[in-house]
Amino acid sequence: MLEKAKQALQPSARSAVPPFMVMDVVAAAARLEAQGRRVIHMEVGQPAASAPATAIAAARSALGSERLGYTETLGIASLRRRIARAYAEWHGLDIDPARIVVTTGSSAGFTLAFLAAFESGDRVAMALPGYPPYRHILTALGCEPAAIETNAGTRWSITAEALLALHRTRSLKGVVVASPANPTGTMMTASALTALIRCAEDAGIIVISDEIYHGLEYTFASESAARISENVIIINSFSKYFCMTGWRIGWMVLPASLMRTVDRLQQNLAISVPTLSQIAAEAAFDGRAELEGVRRGYEENRRILLEGLPRAGLDSFVPADGAFYLYADVSRFSNDSFAFATRMLEEAGVAATPGIDFDPVHGRNFLRLCYAGASDDMREAVERIRHWLKKDAV
Ligand SMILES: Cc1ncc(COP(=O)(O)O)c(C=O)c1O
Repeated sequence: MLEKAKQALQPSARSAVPPFMVMDVVAAAARLEAQGRRVIHMEVGQPAASAPATAIAAARSALGSERLGYTETLGIASLRRRIARAYAEWHGLDIDPARIVVTTGSSAGFTLAFLAAFESGDRVAMALPGYPPYRHILTALGCEPAAIETNAGTRWSITAEALLALHRTRSLKGVVVASPANPTGTMMTASALTALIRCAEDAGIIVISDEIYHGLEYTFASESAARISENVIIINSFSKYFCMTGWRIGWMVLPASLMRTVDRLQQNLAISVPTLSQIAAEAAFDGRAELEGVRRGYEENRRILLEGLPRAGLDSFVPADGAFYLYADVSRFSNDSFAFATRMLEEAGVAATPGIDFDPVHGRNFLRLCYAGASDDMREAVERIRHWLKKDAV
C-alpha cells in the first residue's frame, strides 16, 4: 500500500494535449529581457492596453462597498441585460437576455458549449490553422477534433463545400467557426457565414461561432451568427475588444433549448463567475470612447505592418481584416517556424509565435505576428526585421 502511494500519479490519456509553443518563446523573451535586452513583443495575443477606466472605477468602488459573494450562475441580471443591449447597438438585433450566460472568459464557454452539445466520441470540425484550444479542449472531453485545412485562397476560412465534403466521409456533429480568426485575422463575409451556417444546419451539424474578436475590424463589419440562426452557439468575451484578458470574463448566446443544461453545468463546474469581473464588465460598456481609441491604434499598427513588412522582406500574408494578427508565410527563409522565431527573437529582438501552434503541419512555414502593442514598437519591429533579414541569409 505504502509502495503504491509512493508511485508517481499517472496522468489520464485524455489529458495528453500538446503544449502551447508560444510559451517557450515567451520564456526565451523573458530570459533576454533579464539580460537587459529590449524585446518587442508580438507573440502573445492580448491587448497592451488595460481595461477601460469605467471598468476599473466600478471594480474599485465594488471592492470598498460590496460583499462580492457568489452571483446567479448565469450571471448578474443587469450584466446579461447590458450584453443583450449591445447586440441591439452593434448589430440591430433583439436578443433575449434569458439566452445569455456569463462565463469565465470564452475559454470556459467552450468547455460548457462542448459538454452541452456533444457526446464523447462526437466529431467536431474546425479550421487549420486555428486557435489550438478548440482541438485540445475537445480532445480532453473525449470528442474527436476534425481539422479542415484552409488556405490563403479562401482567406483561411472553412467553406460550405469543404464542410460538406468532410461530413460525407466522416460524419460531423459540430463545427467551430471564428471570424475574425486567430491566427490569420481574416474574416468571413456575411454571405459566406450565412452559407456555412445554413449548410451546416441542413446537414444536422451544430455550429459554434467564436466571436471574440468582434469590434476589431478594419475593412468591413463583422456579422454575428445571432442574426443568421437562433440555433448557433455564440461565444464571446471581454478579453479582446474590452482589453480585459486577466479579468477572465466572457459570455455566450445560446439556443433557448440549451439554457437549462448550461445553467446546470456551470452550477456544478464553477457555481458562478467572479463577481468583481462581472461588475467591471458591465461598466466596461461605458468605456466605448476609450476602447475605440485602442481600436484605432490597432488600425494604425495594421497599416504600419501592411506597408512595412513587405519592404522588410516578409511579403507573403493575407492582409487581415480584423483582430490584431498577421499570419506570414516564412517558407522563403525556413521550413521550421519555431527555429525561425527563436532566431528572430535572439538576433532581431522581435518575439512572434511559430505557426506550428495553430497548424501542426503547414504551420512550420508560418509566423503569427500580433500587433496589439504600441505603434512605435511596430515601426521599430519592421526596422529590426528588415535589418535582420537583409544581413542574415536565414
Ligand atoms: C480565437 C480565440 N478564442 C478564444 C480565446 C480565449 O479567450 P478568453 O478565454 O480570454 O476569452 C482566444 C484567446 O486568445 C482566441 O484567440
